[in-house]
Order: sequence, then structure tokens, then C-alpha cells
Amino acid sequence: MIDYYEKYKDKIEEYRRQGHIVPTANLVKNSEQIEKIRISANINTAVLDYVAKNIREGMSTQEIDDLVSSFTKENGAICAPLHYEGYPKSVCTSINDEVCHGIPSRRIKLKDGDIINVDVSTIKDGYFSDASRMFAIGNISKKRQELIEVTKECLRVGIQAAKPWGFVGDIGEAISTYAYSKGYTVVRELGGHGVGLEFHEDPFISHIGKKGTGMLLVPGMIFTIEPMINAGRANVVIDNLNGWTIYTADGQDSAQVEHMILITEEGNEILTY
Ligand code: MF3
Ligand code: CO
Repeated sequence: MIDYYEKYKDKIEEYRRQGHIVPTANLVKNSEQIEKIRISANINTAVLDYVAKNIREGMSTQEIDDLVSSFTKENGAICAPLHYEGYPKSVCTSINDEVCHGIPSRRIKLKDGDIINVDVSTIKDGYFSDASRMFAIGNISKKRQELIEVTKECLRVGIQAAKPWGFVGDIGEAISTYAYSKGYTVVRELGGHGVGLEFHEDPFISHIGKKGTGMLLVPGMIFTIEPMINAGRANVVIDNLNGWTIYTADGQDSAQVEHMILITEEGNEILTY
């Protein structure tokens, strides 16, 4: 068993003395915890693959919820969103101008030209995982296609910026620089998060940021990067009826993709492939 916090205690303490924000011991996973979290993440990926195989035009978002719920149970796992802080369903399904936390419903049917984010989170033997993908329904517009491509690239550059002994702010700077260079905006109110022993742990991973700021990244840390990229303005509003769903304030489209990564001694590893 490798205890990364123990291994790097002195180095972390050195950064702390220099005034940096450093992770607490629970945020730096040991090799046994990493293996358990990896198993959870592998199931989470299989759930997303199953959704990818079955999602189609005409289907209701409740049917996606049913697919996720049954497949997860068959794999001996639990859907983390269900009853999380009162959330009513097993998965989040966010269409077009919905930024995130879209709630599955029998009344919402997938139409030709829609873009949808399906956000899946799994608990296996008490360990948490979390990832999301975009799906195009039928033929989507060039504009929506480009939004998805830019969002995927934002995640890629964000992951590339996440290095041991770097900082959380490096990730947000990389993502926002790329998004704005392409004429898109980045949602500020929501971000990635530590994950593994709980659904949402520190640190908060802002998708805007400044290089060299925020929490130190140490081998053994696991967190999500999940940029929400808007075609129009960055501002968002919350659904005041269901209290969950976030929309773009200007009604333009938004896209999101999410991976869960492990900071390693060499760089990082994507756990949700
Ligand atoms: N999966 C979302 C995330 O990426 C969290 C959804 S919380 C829920 O952090 F309750 F809405 F499921
Ligand atoms: Co997440």
C-alpha cells in the first residue's frame, strides 16, 4: 500500500509554509482507495457506454433514467444522484439551453437536432465516481456541433493542465483561455470537485482561474473537471419550480463534458475512460 499523503507530507508542508493552499490528508487517496474508486469509475463508464448504445430520438429522458438505474443495479452499484440533497432521479439529463441538473421526465422527449448531456454518478462499495458526456440526437446544426467540439477541447486542455505540484487555478486558466479564444463563455457558478470517498469533496475546480493560484495538486488527489461552455453569455439562472435545473440566462445553448482524473507522480490519469 502506498500512502501518498505520508510520502509527500514534508513537501506539502513546505508549500503550506510558503503560503499556498494545500490538500488535507483525506483529499490525497492511498493506493487501496484508488483501486476501489477505479472500480466504481469503471462501472460509471460502462453505464455511459450503455446509454450511448441505447439513446435515440423519441425516447423520453425518464427512459434514460430507467436505463441508468437498471444497469447500475445489475452491476451491484448505486446511482449517487438519487435522493442526494433531495434530488429526485438517478441521473441528470440536460438538453440544449439546460446547463446541468436537468431532471428526467416522461414528458420530455428527445427530438431531432437536440444536444443532451447525460451526467452519471455511481457508488460502488461506498466509493464514488462521476462523469458525463454529450449526445447528438439525429442531425444537429453546425453551431451545436461546434459547441460540443469546443467543450470537449476545453476538457482536454483542462486535463492537460492538471499536473502534480501545479495548482487548481492552472486548470481554469487553460479552459477559459481556450473557450474565450473561440468566442464561447464559461459558467462560473458551478465547477468540478474532489470525488471518491464522498460525492463532492474539496477542492472546487473552477473552470475559470489564474495559473499558480488555488489548491496545490498532489499525487493521489482525485477530482472531476466538467466545464460548462455557453454559446452566448456566461450567466445562468436556476429553475425556481424544481430548484435544481440550471439554464443559460439568455436561452442560448450550453454543453458540458466531465471526466474524473487522478493526479499521478508523472502527470494524471483519466479514470472514466
Ligand atoms: N453529477 C453532478 C456533478 O457533476 C452532480 C449532480 S448532483 C445531483 O457534480 F443531485 F443533481 F445529481
Ligand atoms: Co461532477
